Amino acid sequence: MRDFELNLTPEEESLKQYKYMEKAKLLVAEKEKELGRKLTFHVTTFGCQMNARDSEKLVGILSEIGYVEAEDERADFVIYNTCTVRENADNKVWGRLGYLKSYKKQNPETIIGLCGCMMQEQGVVEKIEKEYKHVNLVFGTHNIYKFAELACKTLQSKGLVVDVWKENDKIVEDLPMKRKFSFKSGVNIMFGCDNFCSYCIVPYVRGREKSREPKDIIREIERLVADGVCEVMLLGQNVNSYGKNLEHPMSFADLLREVNKIEGLERIRFMTSHPKDLSDDLILAMKECDKVCGHMHLPLQSGSDRILEIMNRHYDKAKYLDIVRKLREAVPDIAITTDIIVGFPGETEEDFQETLNVVKEVGYDSAFTFIYSKRTGTRAAKMDNQVPTDVVKDRFNRLLEEVQTISAERAKRHEGKVMPVLVEGINEHDNSLVTGRLENNLVVHFKGTEDMIGKIYNVKLSECKGFYYLGELA
Ligand code: 5AD
Ligand code: SF4
Repeated sequence: MRDFELNLTPEEESLKQYKYMEKAKLLVAEKEKELGRKLTFHVTTFGCQMNARDSEKLVGILSEIGYVEAEDERADFVIYNTCTVRENADNKVWGRLGYLKSYKKQNPETIIGLCGCMMQEQGVVEKIEKEYKHVNLVFGTHNIYKFAELACKTLQSKGLVVDVWKENDKIVEDLPMKRKFSFKSGVNIMFGCDNFCSYCIVPYVRGREKSREPKDIIREIERLVADGVCEVMLLGQNVNSYGKNLEHPMSFADLLREVNKIEGLERIRFMTSHPKDLSDDLILAMKECDKVCGHMHLPLQSGSDRILEIMNRHYDKAKYLDIVRKLREAVPDIAITTDIIVGFPGETEEDFQETLNVVKEVGYDSAFTFIYSKRTGTRAAKMDNQVPTDVVKDRFNRLLEEVQTISAERAKRHEGKVMPVLVEGINEHDNSLVTGRLENNLVVHFKGTEDMIGKIYNVKLSECKGFYYLGELA
């Protein structure tokens, strides 16, 4: 069965899934009749932007087959789209599953589905089978396009439906998706990662790198724009190696140039850039392309050459700083943000000081700081020189303080300027205000109304409040 399925072309697979959607629609309609009400769903997303985009696929299919979205987990079909990049991501899911157990006791018909990166991790499915018998459906990252089929099976089955694959190189296009935001959207340009940074579990759970065809990406963005989207975020674990394995290879810089030509699109963002693959041509493309936002997320991970080597990052401090210099030369005022890990095995105070030095030298607009988390199966997990918890915590606090001081200072430099802001929504605390984002990703609040959502306005940045601005329409 499985081999046969794998031999379907992506187009055939997509058609097959639409057939399952028709079947699921009937099953849902039947159940609705029986209960005398609509069925509800809730999807909870953990982790990164990739998962957020995947969840939009799940929501698209659940809506298509007749479910309506519930505000919280008290729903008929509950899905957790999981993350496993750090251990606390796993722990959150186990905790929430515990809560759902008592909910399901009262509501035995509830369907609980689990998917995403954590399901690809060794031992997780076995643990669910043994200890979390209230779960109905488990699938992984490689077969999310089969969700309609799996939902159909689950609706008809009393037991647990499990479908987790080790690998898959097929990319299935054109399935339903329902966006969280009307005016902005993530767009996958590639899946997986081949880098095997020694601390990272992603290559094991997301599989080998594969790029989408440029024509499919452009067509998706054109459709999004026709549907009201003005900002896209091009998504990949390492966008700088986009297109290398395509039948007709294309660089990420050239893809940006193509996306930049799409009429009606206003802003292009991308995530994530690995420094080792960041080309001079990409810097040039950022300079040339007016729609590409002046923002680069460039994970540093560590400022110590010794640690970078053991992390298998393939760049050193000098190369990283050189990229930053070139970026600033080409795109003045570019915002640079980063990810940093503290407490990688064997990290000494000296290594940590190197990280602090880079943080000071670059002057990040913001930085995500993480405590190293041991992930089973990675090379770093086998290293026996783990740093004691209290030492790591102390370093983490010192880093956080440095990062926050610097980014508050950086944010201030725009005070008094007039800059374009894309309005994203009504302010959560004060509904006379709207909240939006500058090109560099900083948040701005200013007086406004709901009809402004999804449009770009020139706003005077009157007061910097550290991580956000208060402004007024210019
Ligand atoms: N421990 C801590 N942080 C990690 N990251 C990836 N793996 C780990 C780990 N094992 C961080 C990296 C990466 C970000 C998405 O998560 O900084 O850039
Ligand atoms: Fe993980 Fe490194 Fe791949 Fe990023 S580039 S997903 S940190 S292995």
